[in-house]
Amino acid sequence: MTPTTYPVLSPEEAAAMIHHGATIGFSGFTPAGAAKAVPKALAARASAEHQAGRPFQVAVVTGASTGDSLDGELARADAISWRTPYQSNKHLRANINAGKTKFFDMHLSHLPQQVRCGFLGEFDWAIVEAADITPDGQIVLTTSVGASPTFLRCAKKIIVEVNAFHSPRLRGFHDIYEPLDPPYRQPIPIVRATDRIGSPVVKVDPAKIAAVVYTDLPDETGGFDPTDPVTARIGANVADFLANEITVGRVPREFLPLQSGVGNIANAVLGALGTNPDIPPFEMYSEVIQDSVIDLVRSGKIRFATGTSLTVAQPVLQKFYDDLEFFRPRILLRPQEITNNPEIVRRLGIITINTAIELDVFGNVNSTHVMGSNLMNGIGGSGDFTRNAYISIFTCPSSAKGGKISTIVPLVSHMDHSEHSVQIVVTEQGVADLRGKDPLERARLIVEKCAHPEFRDTLMRYVELTKDGHTPQTLRNAFRMHEQFLKTGAMSATEWQA
Ligand code: COA
Repeated sequence: MTPTTYPVLSPEEAAAMIHHGATIGFSGFTPAGAAKAVPKALAARASAEHQAGRPFQVAVVTGASTGDSLDGELARADAISWRTPYQSNKHLRANINAGKTKFFDMHLSHLPQQVRCGFLGEFDWAIVEAADITPDGQIVLTTSVGASPTFLRCAKKIIVEVNAFHSPRLRGFHDIYEPLDPPYRQPIPIVRATDRIGSPVVKVDPAKIAAVVYTDLPDETGGFDPTDPVTARIGANVADFLANEITVGRVPREFLPLQSGVGNIANAVLGALGTNPDIPPFEMYSEVIQDSVIDLVRSGKIRFATGTSLTVAQPVLQKFYDDLEFFRPRILLRPQEITNNPEIVRRLGIITINTAIELDVFGNVNSTHVMGSNLMNGIGGSGDFTRNAYISIFTCPSSAKGGKISTIVPLVSHMDHSEHSVQIVVTEQGVADLRGKDPLERARLIVEKCAHPEFRDTLMRYVELTKDGHTPQTLRNAFRMHEQFLKTGAMSATEWQA
């Protein structure tokens, strides 16, 4: 580790510099690369202030979700007044849904420009995890880039957590590029997933660095659930669909770069693509690089993977570190503004695969809210990719909560992705190809191919209730399945009003 000329403080000393009401940009995109020691100390400070009868809350901005030491600790201490752009922590979620924390759900590609242009106010602090820092202000980030380059440039002061858990040999795994803002924006010069366009380090003004805090802490990533029959079937359905697209010539033989969402289903889908002999070796231009990608890079099925975070379980990260030189030409981390950039998604012709909470018979997708009102995580990058995809795919199991909920409903209770952006729907039941179909055709197809058999007849009766207009929607019945669930705890036995 390079010796620094910066003030070296303990996490508690660093946290003591932060005032009530501050806006902080933290590193972290998923638990990967998230600041850990200072937010935890800040949470302890907030609790102490609250016990002394004084208010203490901060506004928290990150790349996306983070680890428990950040969102969990601060939420349990009731220390977050306002949060953006994404989260996945159960304590923070509870505060948001109880109205205790204000949450602004954002497309992740939009965040850095909105920070630079002042849409989110002034940033008092950037608190960023690093693998290394040089005396002239070169920062080597760790397992994620997210929005850290922008936080580091825009914040008035900086605290760097130099984490010995990550190797300084990570230098070279990052491609740091910030576009100029309008009206000076130039085309972003990425024409292939493998193109490097920026710097391996973030360069900051050393005078802004108020403290360096030394830590040795692993990323707080969880593992994945083992693939179950439902996720395995969804994965196989996606792989078979894409293999057929190649066969019929709608996807080029050499294939196209893939984006794959977060969570268990996304991990299973990648696993299925990896074992399908009809899918050629491919590249990933994605947001999060998950466990299955590392295995597929090693086997050669994935030739190159670029994302904004390397979010893998501890044993997988260890394997990555053990063989860093093998992965060096094959894995690249970029700012979320670049991985999720609509210009590049459209130019590269990315095939996008994301997960829905529910979707309706017309192809509108809800990725974020349960029963219309309770936030789950946030839209994340799903909109950045879906809206601009070569082919956009949404996956989900056909039922949730032990079969009590149909994930296919007459009308989504909250809409994140409209029918205009959603092309392919895949559940464990099958695949609905919505391209070129009118609303009635789409509705019949989704119900027939994707709905759970328990709900299929009910949903088909809904579709056939009216033939008025272009879209067979009956407003008085549109949320009847949701209401039935809220009243009885199950969507079954929903009756339609004629
Ligand atoms: N109604 C009520 N609850 C539902 C539901 C529905 N229709 N569908 C799913 N759920 C619940 C599940 O039961 C589960 O609840 P639990 O945590 O209490 O067990 C929870 O939602 C998560 O569902 P799960 O099946 O475990 O899905 P997942 O881990 O694959 O996550 C999303 C699914 C949609 C929440 C997740 O993919 C997400 O946050 N997406 C938005 C952001 C995104 O797409 N990012 C990627 C862009 S690169």
